[in-house]
Amino acid sequence: MKTSSTKLVATGILLHLVLAMSYGAPLFSEHEQQVEALLGRMTLDEKIGQMVQADSGALKDKADVQKYFLGSVLSGGNSDPAAGNTARDWLEFSTSFQSYALKTRLKIPLLYGIDAVHGHNNIDGATIFPHHIALGATHDARLVEQAEHVTAQEVAGTGIRWAFAPCVAVVQDERWGRTYEGYSDNTALVTKLGVAAVKGLQGDTLSPAPDSVLACAKHYIGDGGTTNGVDQGNTLCDEATLRRIYLPPYAAAVRAGVGSIMVSYSSWNGVKMHANKFLLTDVLKNELGFRGFLVSDWAAIDQLSPDYKRDIEQSINAGLDMIMIPNGPGQPNNYVDFITQLKKLVAEGKVPMARIDDAVRRILRIKFQMGLFESTATDPALTAAIGAPEHRSIARQCVRESLVLLQNKKRALPLAKTIKHLAVVGTADDLGAQCGGWTINWQGAHGNVTHGGTTLLAAIRQTVSPGTKITFSADGSDLPKADAVIVVVSEAPYAEMKGDREDLDLSGEDLDLIAKAHATGAPVITIILSGRPMILRSALADSDAIVAGWLPGTEGLGLTDVLFGDYPFTGKLPRVWPASNTHLRSGDTSEKPLFPFGYGLTR
Ligand code: GLC
Repeated sequence: MKTSSTKLVATGILLHLVLAMSYGAPLFSEHEQQVEALLGRMTLDEKIGQMVQADSGALKDKADVQKYFLGSVLSGGNSDPAAGNTARDWLEFSTSFQSYALKTRLKIPLLYGIDAVHGHNNIDGATIFPHHIALGATHDARLVEQAEHVTAQEVAGTGIRWAFAPCVAVVQDERWGRTYEGYSDNTALVTKLGVAAVKGLQGDTLSPAPDSVLACAKHYIGDGGTTNGVDQGNTLCDEATLRRIYLPPYAAAVRAGVGSIMVSYSSWNGVKMHANKFLLTDVLKNELGFRGFLVSDWAAIDQLSPDYKRDIEQSINAGLDMIMIPNGPGQPNNYVDFITQLKKLVAEGKVPMARIDDAVRRILRIKFQMGLFESTATDPALTAAIGAPEHRSIARQCVRESLVLLQNKKRALPLAKTIKHLAVVGTADDLGAQCGGWTINWQGAHGNVTHGGTTLLAAIRQTVSPGTKITFSADGSDLPKADAVIVVVSEAPYAEMKGDREDLDLSGEDLDLIAKAHATGAPVITIILSGRPMILRSALADSDAIVAGWLPGTEGLGLTDVLFGDYPFTGKLPRVWPASNTHLRSGDTSEKPLFPFGYGLTR
């Protein structure tokens, strides 16, 4: 009996619905017809190409974007344009990769991604915001949304429309080197600010607007809960605890329309997240209805086993839609290998075509939603506004609202602008220490790391009266008896596992500097520039005032706005401040913290 074509089409749609639901694919979206029409024209090579995100550093021949139909390119923390680091260099760099994608048969535009995690921090001259822990201390969702909208404008100004932010880790142990990338140890605060960040980056909804930038909630799930805060470690807890502490920020981000989610290197009860089908597909895609796509972390699937083909099979079948691949031809596990192996897996029936189609649908849906098929052009006004005064003014407000006054004996603060003689010692003139990791380079660095910033010392010089004498000595070797002494102590910049530490004591050198200042008899104002609470030890007794400055970024005037009384202290601790390293032992709540969550003096 001849089956009518109508019946065939109906059967096809029904089959799609059933298969799509099995992989958590959302059933309908406004671009569904466009997605289906394009998908139906794609070859397997073109489909698998969309699932590849290659690092710009691996693409020695940009034409590989066209040759392999790549769907995405990223610039990891150290993958900068050879031409230089200006906004113009980055705009030309990202546009060059895009030009190859638009030369492919179907002209499917590229999604370019970057770690804009506290402003557009890879680009020289960009506005560098305080890191997330400082934004957590503001408790101000509206301000966080504003900050991320500025970040989106500066990212889009370089032709890039995807930021690997916000990190919504609910950080349990300050020994973790990524504590500062998280807002808080409090699930509700992380959830509130994570949603604000998604809205700030994407807009109310992800759209073709030139400054609507794809957000990427990360790292799913439990990255901040590993035993002893070991980076990429193992989060040990039952499902109820996982859902109570770590899942709410993702559920809220999904409801807010986040378009991408990055999977965590870490494991849950010994199972690597990149191979966890239950959490990636059953929970995130099916139960929570996540409509965007899942991207792996940097070479994260390589950690699953010694066999790259097996890694690909496990991760794609678990629900990964796009794989971040830092290696190129001539290196192991490179993006050509990935394509070759995944094609074999499909041919062998080990990765179902329905899984490939679901992944590609999700990626195409986002690209249609962002209007990339209509235009990949960059609004020159956005490029011109990178580092603009109005952007820096918002970052300065973030700094102001992030400062937490921990102690203020004898009302040492605020200082008078007319103070006669002010001594300043420590890392007060170190922009790199102010910005921390993920600034220009992956690990950050001391010194003048970027143009357009203001160090605390420069801000002090701009704030005090003409008659004020300032004595600055980085190492404290020249420390006269002044009317007050500002001591700035800081962590050396770091990122990720490089920041994992067994203890968080202020260094002996820092404590000696504070003691030396105390010995002069002048009021001592200690400012801590760190990615997390530090163990204060003798600094408590030797300081009159203590301010948690976190990692404030380029706008040092936000510090002096409050230190000299133009604005009050409003920051409140976004996480418990431990009294000693004993507290840091995961789960050891026997010792009372020095300062509780939400603590902060106003005067
Ligand atoms: C890093 C980080 C992740 C970042 C990615 C790309 O290893 O884990 O947060 O987005 O690689 O740089």
